[in-house]
Amino acid sequence: MDRVPFNVLVIGATGSIGRLVVQEAFRQGHTVRALTRNPSRATRFPAGVEVVGGDVTRPETLAPAFEGIDAVVLTVNADGHGKEASEAVYYGGIRSVLSAIGGRDVRVALMTTIGITERLGSYNQTNQGHDW
Ligand SMILES: NC(=O)c1ccc[n+]([C@@H]2O[C@H](COP(=O)([O-])OP(=O)(O)OC[C@H]3O[C@@H](n4cnc5c(N)ncnc54)[C@H](OP(=O)(O)O)[C@@H]3O)[C@@H](O)[C@H]2O)c1
Repeated sequence: MDRVPFNVLVIGATGSIGRLVVQEAFRQGHTVRALTRNPSRATRFPAGVEVVGGDVTRPETLAPAFEGIDAVVLTVNADGHGKEASEAVYYGGIRSVLSAIGGRDVRVALMTTIGITERLGSYNQTNQGHDW
């Protein structure tokens, strides 16, 4: 597969990690689309970055974001929102993303959570984030 620059969709684009992903992908010359649940509040991206609305827990909102995309970087975070959010975002959200990609040839990079293998730790006991 040789189609650089990519059309990259960043999911989690407004977060502490995703914001850096957006900046670096843009700096490297890729076409960058930044997904957020609140596009009106996403104002701090470089000019030229396209902001698109979407929520990974609501698959019906994702089709416009995935149009013409050939790479996806996922840095979503459900931390601090409890067990239901962990399941909805880390499990349901990934299922939604794969469904939105369908059978297309799209590269996917997923950033997991630090300590992901420590399933008996207090973090996972609180929110099941590592389990999902
Ligand atoms: N920060 C660190 O040092 C660090 C270290 C290791 C691993 N990580 C992992 O990296 C990932 C990102 O961390 P972070 O610190 O960047 O997170 P963050 O600053 O809390 O940002 C969370 C991001 O997730 C998005 N998001 C949440 N729910 C969503 C949903 N339902 N649909 C679409 N987007 C949703 C938010 O977008 P909107 O609110 O704009 O919709 C936001 O961009 C997490 O898995 C975290 O565990 C982070």
